[in-house]
Amino acid sequence: MSYVNLKEVLRNTRKENFAVGAFNFNGYEDVQGIVNAAAKLRSPVIVSASMSVVSYFGLKQIVGMVKGIAESVEIPVCLHLDHSTSVELCKEAILAGFGSVMIDSSSKKMEENIKDTIEVVAYARKYGSSVEAEIGHVGGVEENIVVCEEDALLTTPQEAKEFYDATKVDALAVAIGTAHGFYKKEPKIDFSRLEKIRALLPCHLVLHGGTGVSDEDFKLCVEKGMSKINVGTELKKVYTDSIRQQCKLVSEKEIDPKKITKEVKVNIEKAVTNKILVFSSNDKI
Ligand code: 13P
Repeated sequence: MSYVNLKEVLRNTRKENFAVGAFNFNGYEDVQGIVNAAAKLRSPVIVSASMSVVSYFGLKQIVGMVKGIAESVEIPVCLHLDHSTSVELCKEAILAGFGSVMIDSSSKKMEENIKDTIEVVAYARKYGSSVEAEIGHVGGVEENIVVCEEDALLTTPQEAKEFYDATKVDALAVAIGTAHGFYKKEPKIDFSRLEKIRALLPCHLVLHGGTGVSDEDFKLCVEKGMSKINVGTELKKVYTDSIRQQCKLVSEKEIDPKKITKEVKVNIEKAVTNKILVFSSNDKI
């Protein structure tokens, strides 16, 4: 049905107490798997392109691919640029047709983070796109962004409020104890911090580092106010494991690539279906 911006795809999350999954993709079949899962469950969905995916495909080809797939289904689909550390890239993505961009200046000083975010928000408003930013610093490894444990900083409610008041950003990623990538030990989520931030801020809140978080913790995050939940690493592994596995199963004489890549579509759809049910975004359109 619709190719929408982030504000639109998250519109009913607080009123109806659910979160929309933002799933990172790396190819064509995984976008299909993600969107097909959402369409079958009548769930809104966000597909996220990282900076490395952008340099691999190019902004315009990503927009063409996702718009084309979105037009074939009856659910709202939002295309999001994930963790852009560049203001310029955010502007280029908006111009190319992304419905949402994340300007990630969270490793910079607060004033610079605010300045970059204000610039991207002003630009996005002209084109009807939405903007996510980050305050505090989610730890772990996300492609080119590596944040070691000592540098990971939990978001303080007061800082989050100050940041929102200055930027009027549409969605804010807050650090409450999750980390990007696989966990070395169980994540410890600070739910009371989340409650305090939620009470102070009118914008949507975003949980990064969804891989390895338990279903119970996800459900509590949704209950306490998260509107967007990012999952990347888990799907990357499903993608590569599917190819590896299928290569072993088909004959070496097989030359139809679809016999191998079809498993990506099937397995990504399964993984995303599980997440949608945990985030309670099924039957929300
Ligand atoms: P994971 O890779 O830990 O799932 O995190 C994804 C993410 O937060 C993308 O921004």
